[in-house]
Amino acid sequence: MKYNEVKGANRIVKNSSYLISKPYELKNRWRNEFNNNNPICLELGMGRGEFIINMAKQNPKVNYIGLELNESQTATAVSKIGKQDIPNLRLICADAKDIDKMFGREIDTIYLTFSEPWPKPIDEKKRFTHINFLKLYDRVFKKDKHIILKTDNKVLFAYSLETMSSYWYEFKKVSMDLHNDERKIPNIMTDWEIKCNHDRKQIYYVDAIFKG
Ligand SMILES: C[S@@+](CC[C@H](N)C(=O)[O-])C[C@H]1O[C@@H](n2cnc3c(N)ncnc32)[C@H](O)[C@@H]1O
Repeated sequence: MKYNEVKGANRIVKNSSYLISKPYELKNRWRNEFNNNNPICLELGMGRGEFIINMAKQNPKVNYIGLELNESQTATAVSKIGKQDIPNLRLICADAKDIDKMFGREIDTIYLTFSEPWPKPIDEKKRFTHINFLKLYDRVFKKDKHIILKTDNKVLFAYSLETMSSYWYEFKKVSMDLHNDERKIPNIMTDWEIKCNHDRKQIYYVDAIFKG
């Protein structure tokens, strides 16, 4: 997918105190970075960061890391943070396929929000719920494997339920229509999700766990 280019993205990202420029150096040392023993949650493909920034603001006793490949998207997230002080938030601009080089067994939850669906069969391996990614996550989860996914893409959702269940994940909660679910599942909407909601598009949600 093409994203709007942000002028000076490299400088904006580099100068942000939220950005971890050498995440490999923090492998097995994230507790020191956050200076606490609180759980650590990671969003892969955070985009413009609305989800992870707001999660961090709402849950100060949990640490959040937003990882994003695209520098312009990361720069937009940095701009959204602006001058706010959010001590439990860090950003990484890198490829998700390298997370095992950045983290030891330190992650409690992985969030996949509106991940790119990669609809062509040739791109299947890029899907964040491809079996290779699920295997990769094993190397960074602390104990239980816990993935929370939401998407407006029915095909990606069905695919993800299939790959996760074949990899022994169990589903704690599944919703075929998150915004109208009577269980009132707590949710933070991204810009894209607000648009989906406006267009009355269904949002699919799964909270999946494999107890190690
Ligand atoms: C459709 S956007 C969703 C952004 C955000 N999670 C949201 O809900 O608004 C998907 C994001 O994943 C990022 N992405 C795709 N492949 C990636 C990878 N291998 N590593 C890190 N980020 C990736 C894209 O650059 C894009 O910003």
